[in-house]
Amino acid sequence: MDKIIINGGKPLKGKICISGAKNAALTLLPCALLTDEPLTLRNLPRLADVDSFGHLLNQLGVSTTVEGAKPDEMGRVMTLRARNIVSTVAPYDIVRKMRASILVLGPLLARAGEATVSLPGGCAIGMRPIDLHLKALEALGAEIEITSGYVRAKAPKGGLTGGTISFPQVSVGATENALMAAVLAKGTTVIENAAREPEITDLAKCLIAMGASIDGLRTDTLTVHGKEKLHGATYAVMADRIEAGSYACAALITGGSLELVGAHKETMPSILSGFVDAGGIVEDTKDGIAVRADGGIKALSVSTAPYPAFPTDMQAQFMSMLALAEGTSLLTETIFENRYMHVPELTRMGADIEVRGRAAIVRGVEKLHGAPVMATDLRASMSLILAGLAAEGTTEVSRIYHLDRGYERLEEKLQAVGADIERISDG
Ligand code: EPZ
Repeated sequence: MDKIIINGGKPLKGKICISGAKNAALTLLPCALLTDEPLTLRNLPRLADVDSFGHLLNQLGVSTTVEGAKPDEMGRVMTLRARNIVSTVAPYDIVRKMRASILVLGPLLARAGEATVSLPGGCAIGMRPIDLHLKALEALGAEIEITSGYVRAKAPKGGLTGGTISFPQVSVGATENALMAAVLAKGTTVIENAAREPEITDLAKCLIAMGASIDGLRTDTLTVHGKEKLHGATYAVMADRIEAGSYACAALITGGSLELVGAHKETMPSILSGFVDAGGIVEDTKDGIAVRADGGIKALSVSTAPYPAFPTDMQAQFMSMLALAEGTSLLTETIFENRYMHVPELTRMGADIEVRGRAAIVRGVEKLHGAPVMATDLRASMSLILAGLAAEGTTEVSRIYHLDRGYERLEEKLQAVGADIERISDG
């Protein structure tokens, strides 16, 4: 398995191009199932999860062609076409490795009237149930049964019918499945307490480009007027707000200054306000945003919550930064029940962190020391990279396949702004 080796202590300076958003790409790809016409997605990030999703769609009958991707080009243009759905089964061996595969459930039900999708099972950060997805689809008339670890869903003879979906708690994936099912349902669907993450808005905009009728974008109530058919479209994936936030942390933790080219500030309100509270400076530039350190890192208290609040996907990265703050910080993780697995690894690098249930008390230390550490999940692996960039000495991060799921060309992007970082492949 590959490793990443970092010799820390170098302030990062220069420009980093932000890739297309992983969590937008993974909900835009299954939109191809909703029409028999071509859907072209631009600015697709070159990520393991995007490739895995493409392979799943191929099994369902979707042709995928990647255009004009030169090796040094960032992002890809992929044209997908589901002339006919040849299978409605998402097998366990795919779903267990990439839980976003559950996002084929809604589109398959809408287009083919049935779907058999493996239960995704839990993952490192939590149980990750899908009850809210299933309740939403039942509200549109789907019959759902769970047998032998699979969800078997069937639409009524005449297809799904519009209804009211009222989520008891915010769920990004369940909102996405509900949206993709509702666009071809007969009649109107109202989705209440919908997630408001920018990736949901990106999905809605892509569906509208395909001919869907959706009102209430950026609000917690989405109204969908179902259509007989959707047509093809060309749509560009939004910039990855979590990647941008992660590199902003890299600027602050190394005392550097970066321009995040292509970052959309308006999708990052709470990330950037947290960054400023921690002592960072943010300025608009012609092509994105500039983020830099301005003296030391300040301690702060932050709690994760659904958008527009501080995102859970930035908790681990902020923790690394706050490990070097002046003073004591309090982080509270309210979304996932087990998202502190980076703590023991950061502690091995000299961080002083105490976890009490959902809360993590981070007492700032003078410095971190390089050490061999192990990545456990996607965002935890980024927090270890950030700590390694700031630490004195050499850090070796193993199991970086986690990283490859969500960060395109990470070591190249960091090398280009002065990091002493390299990937050692033991293949
Ligand atoms: C999406 O996961 C993202 N993944 C996650 O990013 C992100 O952390 C999460 O949203 C929250 O923002 C993708 O978009 C591919 P949820 P999702 O449904 O949709 C509970 C990353 O690092 N829940 O909003 O699975 C659930 O257990 C990944 O990029 C139910 O109880 O998240 C969690 O506690 C990690 N029942 C909470 O809701 C359900 O049916 C929020 O989950 C669904 C969810």
